[in-house]
Amino acid sequence: MPVTVHDLAAWKARGERFIMLTAYDALTARVLDEAGVPLLLVGDSLGNNVLGYDSTIPVTMDEALVFTAAVARGAKSPMIVGDLPFGAYQASAAEAVRNAARLVKVGANAVKLEGGRRSVKAVRRITAAGVPVMGHLGLTPQSVNAFGGFRVQGRGDQGDVLLEDALALQEAGCFSIVLEAIPAELGRRVTGALDVPTIGIGAGPHCDGQVLVITDLLGLTPDPVPRFVKRYADLRSTVAQAAQRYAKDVAEGHYPGPEHEYH
Ligand code: KIV
Repeated sequence: MPVTVHDLAAWKARGERFIMLTAYDALTARVLDEAGVPLLLVGDSLGNNVLGYDSTIPVTMDEALVFTAAVARGAKSPMIVGDLPFGAYQASAAEAVRNAARLVKVGANAVKLEGGRRSVKAVRRITAAGVPVMGHLGLTPQSVNAFGGFRVQGRGDQGDVLLEDALALQEAGCFSIVLEAIPAELGRRVTGALDVPTIGIGAGPHCDGQVLVITDLLGLTPDPVPRFVKRYADLRSTVAQAAQRYAKDVAEGHYPGPEHEYH
């Protein structure tokens, strides 16, 4: 049985911090599963990180389904959270349920959507259909055009609005809420006010869990990266150096060697 919503509730009750990472492919999902990562988010950040879009906005349901299915094939123990892309849940609650069900059918254990009170109807209908929903507040990238860029959210009076949104999402049935790029003090306030766990990304150290984008964690994303990113590896250099060493070996006749030949 993969990690469930009950596990998250228990971790919050015990004050146990946890992590979530994004994953987009089966191989990485398997590595993260073996490393004990409890939650894998097939984020719509796949748009920037895999498909080369300059935002998450172009990501389609069909694309989300392909990558969610791949991650589900690669990982068995983590909870797999499928991200509902822009346009998949805003038009009507009925469409939101249909698209959430499509993600579950290919292997998601839960879905994530962005927005506070404006998304409450969709949250209610999806949870009523038996699909756990993760909320997402703060710098919600699908609203980048409305925000006028990638800016910290929730400063000043906006903080009270965000807290009200978080309470509304909890009341509607969200089992956890991602808080992105908000002041650390607001992250602390929201986390203390909610019964369900918060998962922070640029929301300070007081959230119940933390999430990072896998390409940021591994140091694959080129500069500039947001202030909240901590790189735990430098795969950008590792990959470039491996490719250069391979080219050199081939040019100098060192590869392939006798041990790589078929007879
Ligand atoms: O799509 C994504 O990667 C996300 C995380 C930043 C939480 O939504």
